[in-house]
Amino acid sequence: MTDEHTRAHLLKTASYEAAPEDVHRVLLLYSGGLDTSVMLKWIQDEYDAEVVTLTVNLGQPGEDYSVVEGKARQLGAVESFLVDAREEFAREYVVPAIKANAIYGLGYPLFTALGRPLIAKLAVEYARRSGCDTIAHGCTGKGNDQVRIEATVATLAPELKIIAPVRGWQMGRDEEVAYARENGIPVKGGSEVAPYSIDDNLWGRSSEGRWIEDLDHAPDDDVFQLVTRPEAAPDEAEVVTLEFERGVPVALNGERLPIVELLERVGEIGARHGVGIVDHIEDRIVGLKVRDIYEVPAAAIILPAHAELEKLVGTIHQNQFKPALDRQWAYLVYAGLWWEPLRGDLDAYMDSVNEQVTGTMGLKLYKGSARVVTRESPNAVYDQALASFGASGGLFSQQASPGFIELWSLQSRMAWRLRNG
Ligand code: ARG
Repeated sequence: MTDEHTRAHLLKTASYEAAPEDVHRVLLLYSGGLDTSVMLKWIQDEYDAEVVTLTVNLGQPGEDYSVVEGKARQLGAVESFLVDAREEFAREYVVPAIKANAIYGLGYPLFTALGRPLIAKLAVEYARRSGCDTIAHGCTGKGNDQVRIEATVATLAPELKIIAPVRGWQMGRDEEVAYARENGIPVKGGSEVAPYSIDDNLWGRSSEGRWIEDLDHAPDDDVFQLVTRPEAAPDEAEVVTLEFERGVPVALNGERLPIVELLERVGEIGARHGVGIVDHIEDRIVGLKVRDIYEVPAAAIILPAHAELEKLVGTIHQNQFKPALDRQWAYLVYAGLWWEPLRGDLDAYMDSVNEQVTGTMGLKLYKGSARVVTRESPNAVYDQALASFGASGGLFSQQASPGFIELWSLQSRMAWRLRNG
C-alpha cells in the first residue's frame, strides 16, 4: 500500500465521517465479494481496529451464507452476524412500494433503493449491540447507495461515524485483486475478466459495468442470470391469478402464501416466461446518467396487477391524483430519503386508497410480456349494465348527455371564441 493510496481516506468532508483516531471497532456491511473482503483486511491494517461483520439476507438468489460467514472469520472478523431480513423487507419495504405502484424513471422498481435503508438500519442496530463506534460500507462515491446508507445511519444514529473505504482508497479492480492476493483473500472466479457489478434481492436484480456502459451495445445474453430470454421462453402462454387484500398480494393461483414465498414464486414463474427485463437509462441522484440492466420478474407481474386493480376500484378523481403521489414516493425512496416524514405522510394516503384494493387479477404471461386479462373485485366502481353498449336501465340517462356536454364545455368554448372568433 503506497502513501497515495492511503491518504485520501484521512480527509473529512462531512461531520459523520470518521477521523482515524475515532475508529476502534467497526461494523462492516459485508457481502463476501471482493470489495468488502479487501475492506475487511484493510480496515484492520489501516485503522488498527477490530471488525465486526454484518451480512443481510434480502433474498439474493443462490447465496451461500455459511460460506460468507466463514470467509469473514477467516479474514479476521471478531464477530460475524447474519440476519435473515426477508420477511421485514417484504412486509415493511416491498409492500408499501406495491401500494405506491413504485417505479422510478419509467422502469426501475427500486429493489436496491428499498433494500438499502433496511440494511443500514440493521447496521445501526448491530453496531450498537456489539459496541462499534463506526459503520463501514462498500459503496463507491459515484452511486446512489452511499446516499441511502449514510443518510440512514446519520438519521438513526448521529453518534456513529461512517467510513467508505472504496471512495478514498483509489484502488482499481487490478489493485484490489493484487491486495487480495498479497493478503490471502480468496478471489472468486479468477481475475481475468472484470465481472458485472451486481446487486439483487427478492424484488429484482441489477447489472452495471462492462459493455452496459456502451449505449449502442445491445445486451449480451450472459447478463441475464435470472430471467429466461423471451425468445427462449415457452411457446405456450400461462395465465396466473393474483389475489390482493387491501393492496397486499396474498394468493397466487388460488393458493394463499406468506408474502416472501409469494414474491419468490411469482418471480420464478415470471422468470420462466422471460418477463421483467428492463434496459434502463437512469438519472442518479448524484448527477450521473447511467445505464442499468434490470431483471425484475416479480415486480413486472405484481405492479401492473396492482395498478390495474387500483384503477378498477378508484374513482376518476382518485385515479387522476394518485400517480403524482406515486411518483413522489418513488423519487423520495430512490433518492435515499426513506426516513423523510413526507414518505410517512404519503404512506398514510397510500394505505387509505389501498383499503379498497381487494380483488383478483388474471395475467397472461407470454415470451416477455405480462398482460392483465381478467379482473374481479367486490369494490369495482363498475356496473356491466351501465357500461354496456346494449340498452341500459334507468340509472344512466343518455338523454342527459347533451346537457352535460353543453355545460362541461362552456368555458372552453368561450375561450376558443375569444381567441379565434
Ligand atoms: N441503479 C440502481 C439504484 O441506484 C441499482 C444500483 C445497484 N447497486 C449496486 N451497488 N450495484 O438503485
